[in-house]
Amino acid sequence: MEALSERTLSVKDAVLTRRSIRKFKPDPIPRERLEEILSLALKAPSSNNLQPWRVVVIQNAEVKERLREAANNQAQVSSAPAVLVIYSDMKDTLEHVEEVLHPGFSEEQKQARAASFRKAWEGQSDEERENWGKAQGFILLGFLMLIARSFGYDTVPMGGFNAARVKEVLGLPSHVAITALLPMGVADEAGYEHHRHPLGRVVQWQ
Ligand SMILES: Cc1cc2nc3c(=O)[nH]c(=O)nc-3n(C[C@H](O)[C@H](O)[C@H](O)COP(=O)(O)O)c2cc1C
Repeated sequence: MEALSERTLSVKDAVLTRRSIRKFKPDPIPRERLEEILSLALKAPSSNNLQPWRVVVIQNAEVKERLREAANNQAQVSSAPAVLVIYSDMKDTLEHVEEVLHPGFSEEQKQARAASFRKAWEGQSDEERENWGKAQGFILLGFLMLIARSFGYDTVPMGGFNAARVKEVLGLPSHVAITALLPMGVADEAGYEHHRHPLGRVVQWQ
């Protein structure tokens, strides 16, 4: 088999060719390719390396159909061969902070850091935790879109969904926060050309 890395686009080409795609070819994405895309995307940084994100990969047509209903009936959810649901679970994250502490730390350093993380989070409301976790998930989302594109797969990031319904369809606990849905597959339409602010509208130099 051809080495996987031989076929990837550069970051620049992935950025320039990525478009939101809402109509996909039915061809499934091989499991090992999905795993490679996910493994690479999980190198994304997160604040304090807490990695609060979790991902559900849905390939089952019946589940995709129910998910589509939970996402304002947007057709791309059932059109894509795979839909990734990116969410964060702050309860799980804070209960297991030791998992994310660097192995280079001494036992003492690990304990001190774990205690300081827990203390920092004690004063936060559920909503603040949820928003924080959700925001980290957007970093993963960005990585996923570009890595998928570099392997020739297209995506559309989606924030238009009923979070409670999505959790119900996927059997997720109520405390988790859904960042986005990400239908993924090979494009069966061109998508729109990029239409973006010029640099000067966005960037100030000081
Ligand atoms: C956070 C976020 C949420 C979005 N939600 C939806 C959505 O629910 N449905 C949809 O069709 N597109 C959605 N989009 C796609 C945007 O419409 C699209 O990225 C934007 O128009 C730019 O087009 P491009 O991605 O083709 O460059 C979303 C994009 C982002 C970043």
